[in-house]
Amino acid sequence: MAILPLVIAPDPRLKTKSAPIEKIDDGIKKLAADMLDTMYRERGIGLAAVQVGQLKRLLVADVTWREEEGPGEQYVLVNPEIVEGSKEERVYKEGCLSFPDQFAEVMRPDTVRVRYLDLDGKPQEKTFEGLLATCIQHEIDHLNGIVFVDHISLVKRDMILRKLTKLKKAGAFEPDHVHGPHCNHSHDDHVL
Ligand code: NI
Repeated sequence: MAILPLVIAPDPRLKTKSAPIEKIDDGIKKLAADMLDTMYRERGIGLAAVQVGQLKRLLVADVTWREEEGPGEQYVLVNPEIVEGSKEERVYKEGCLSFPDQFAEVMRPDTVRVRYLDLDGKPQEKTFEGLLATCIQHEIDHLNGIVFVDHISLVKRDMILRKLTKLKKAGAFEPDHVHGPHCNHSHDDHVL
């Protein structure tokens, strides 16, 4: 078990497209396990590999875990691809572990059908709904170099990025401060 340091915006890696995983070896399995540990520790519900500095098409999600009860239904998706999204959309107030304490409402398809490999390398296809659908779409965006603030107005995006740039310069996200800004959100804020 290892907690990995998070990549915090603004950072060029968050704008970079991640590469497909050719072989699911022990390194990838360890990365997925460490990403889950990191996600729970930082109280998120989803995490993409790029957020821990690995430009690989891998994401983890668990939107049902609770502080008191521990892990819920975990998902690990390798090389995920959206096959189809519903016309019906839904708005969630989204946050992101790479954007500490920043939130914005984002509209996305309510349901998505996703094709991916599981950790055994088996092809899977599954329909995700509601918050889990939002989470998976947010993480797949990460794999394509897209972040949630790319879905909001330029004015609001600039405001958020200016704030984070200032905090970053002040050293607010250095490892010894990690339990300041990262952990202020409640579980009801959707941090992905
Ligand atoms: Ni995110």
